[in-house]
Amino acid sequence: MQSNIDLRSDTVTLPTRTMREAISIAAVGDDHSREDPSVNQLEIAASEFTGKEAALFVPSGTMANLVALLTHCGRGDEVVAGSESHITNHEGMGAFVLGGLSVRTVTNDFKGRISLEELKNALRPEWPKTAVLCLENTHNRCGGSVIPKSEIKALATVAREHAVAVHVDGARIVNASVALELPVADLVEDADSVSFCFSKGLGAPVGSVLCGSRDFIEEARFNRRLVGGAMRQSGIIAEAARYALEHHVQRISEDHANAQWLYNELGQLDGITMDPAGCDTNLVFFELDPGIDGQKFRSALAENGVRCSGTSERRVRMACHLGVDRDQVKEAARRTAKVLAESIGRN
Ligand SMILES: Cc1ncc(COP(=O)(O)O)c(C=O)c1O
Repeated sequence: MQSNIDLRSDTVTLPTRTMREAISIAAVGDDHSREDPSVNQLEIAASEFTGKEAALFVPSGTMANLVALLTHCGRGDEVVAGSESHITNHEGMGAFVLGGLSVRTVTNDFKGRISLEELKNALRPEWPKTAVLCLENTHNRCGGSVIPKSEIKALATVAREHAVAVHVDGARIVNASVALELPVADLVEDADSVSFCFSKGLGAPVGSVLCGSRDFIEEARFNRRLVGGAMRQSGIIAEAARYALEHHVQRISEDHANAQWLYNELGQLDGITMDPAGCDTNLVFFELDPGIDGQKFRSALAENGVRCSGTSERRVRMACHLGVDRDQVKEAARRTAKVLAESIGRN
């Protein structure tokens, strides 16, 4: 029987044996009352990791972003975010429905970049007032691209000139930091707040964190409760996150090397065009030629034991993560080549 190779996302990882051991001895308490030692320790570790004064553990990346927006904005304020950002494409409803916020988009180019000129034109002092600029790093839909510190600084400078706060959706900020060989704290120095996920490249089962100034996080704590994200003995999951932060950061370079290998290998195949963004981190994107049916291609690949995802009908994403090693990535490339050859033959 063929082995299954799951490249749909870096969220599909399962906790390792040693992570499970750490979970099994986690000290826990009631986090509502700030009495969970594992959560408290995780929040201290996350604030040090990002160079911010304080941190707040939340169940998901979506909630981390939502709580950040609710905290930066008053009702009726405007959020400016990239046209390809996760916040705009996959979470926007939360800001509208729960926050009474409008989300205005500025164009992300193929590398996830935002033009300073367009940003300047998008920020407004009133009716509605822009309260926060959201940046995403790495940029998921733009090839998992890294946004360098110089770019964050330039955008943050414009935002600051307009009295607008800066939030970084750093669901995969650890990937950016590893790729740039720059500590996370350095990379997000110019942001007022940053969120990141433990459940993606870091390989923990659940959880994200929002980091910022002490006052900001105090207010965020209230907003987390408002949206139902305050948990009880959440040390059980916080301990897995803490383990991931201690043991899984440096190994992310293996995922990047595997993804680069896959990007180069698939680039030699007929029937697809590799993403112009290239492969900065762990995500590999390609576009199927117009004659190939995306749905059928993905199904045929799944029948061959390789699962992938897509951001549109013909755009395919493959994610490398701690659940797949180089041999499995090579095998996935071999099966992709086979399915692609058959798909071209059929059309
Ligand atoms: C860039 C980015 N931000 C936020 C999220 C949301 O994370 P979660 O799935 O934990 O809600 C994701 C999820 O894929 C993401 O890619």
